[in-house]
Amino acid sequence: MKALFEELRPGSKDWVLAKKIDPRRLPAHIAVIMDGNGRWAKRRNLPRVAGHKAGAEAVRATVEACARLGIRFLTLYAFSAENWKRPQDEVSTLWRLLHVYLRKELSNLHKHNVRLTAIGRLDALPAAAREELEAAIQATQANDGLQVNLALNYGGRNELVDAFNEILKEQCGRAAPGSLRVDEAGISAHLYTRHLPDPDLLIRTSGEMRVSNFLLWQIAYSELYVTEVLWPDFRRHDLLLAIADFQKRDRRFGGLSRVPPARQGRACGDPHPR
Ligand code: IPE
Ligand code: IPE
Ligand code: MG
Repeated sequence: MKALFEELRPGSKDWVLAKKIDPRRLPAHIAVIMDGNGRWAKRRNLPRVAGHKAGAEAVRATVEACARLGIRFLTLYAFSAENWKRPQDEVSTLWRLLHVYLRKELSNLHKHNVRLTAIGRLDALPAAAREELEAAIQATQANDGLQVNLALNYGGRNELVDAFNEILKEQCGRAAPGSLRVDEAGISAHLYTRHLPDPDLLIRTSGEMRVSNFLLWQIAYSELYVTEVLWPDFRRHDLLLAIADFQKRDRRFGGLSRVPPARQGRACGDPHPR
């Protein structure tokens, strides 16, 4: 959190809030459903795409704040497998914005030692966006600070279908038909997120109380935080509020007592360490 305090004015609103956060119990993995861009634009009598453009600024601010805080993993739901249902010009603007964002932000990602990764059915992305994405992933792969994981053309059900099919493909050659089996560890090991711990904290902006096909398997024991703030308005302050709230939760994982602080300090009590 040292890098965060370097930019906070002592006594300011965010400084006071950050002082309340225990650096030993930060969520290791924060996942965000970035929702409300369209409503943000509508309130201003602007076209929906103006909301998406403003949303890119919130992504920049959130990535920077997470990097300064010392968060290890940030998964951002940017385009769902169902978002193709939107008007074609909105869909193509979203992909163009991704392209522009990656190009513009690459130096900033490096500055904050951010490594970029992506999950979803990436083969179906428009070629220009996919190429820019692959280039940014490649360019940042040696950075060892915050890992920003973009969920693009992502669906939680697709992810499970893809995992089961991979398992079937692997086992069919080897195991006798009667002995084919799947277990929890096997499924976790075939998810797009196999290299990430499960999210400790899931934030959804714009007040919607639903999961919208995001990380269905991985959020089994995530702490949920829904804010009325619309995504384009989301800033460091809102992130700090979410983390402060997270630290008040009693994570029991189905047991009875509070997880001992020593255990929470490690990847925040992920019940399925991988
Ligand atoms: C989230 O904002 C961005 C994407 C889903 C790509 P929305 O575009 O869903 O905004 P609302 O929910 O219509 O306000
Ligand atoms: C979820 O938001 C997907 C993303 C934020 C990328 P949506 O706006 O697509 O979700 P619904 O339709 O309100 O459930
Ligand atoms: Mg929405």
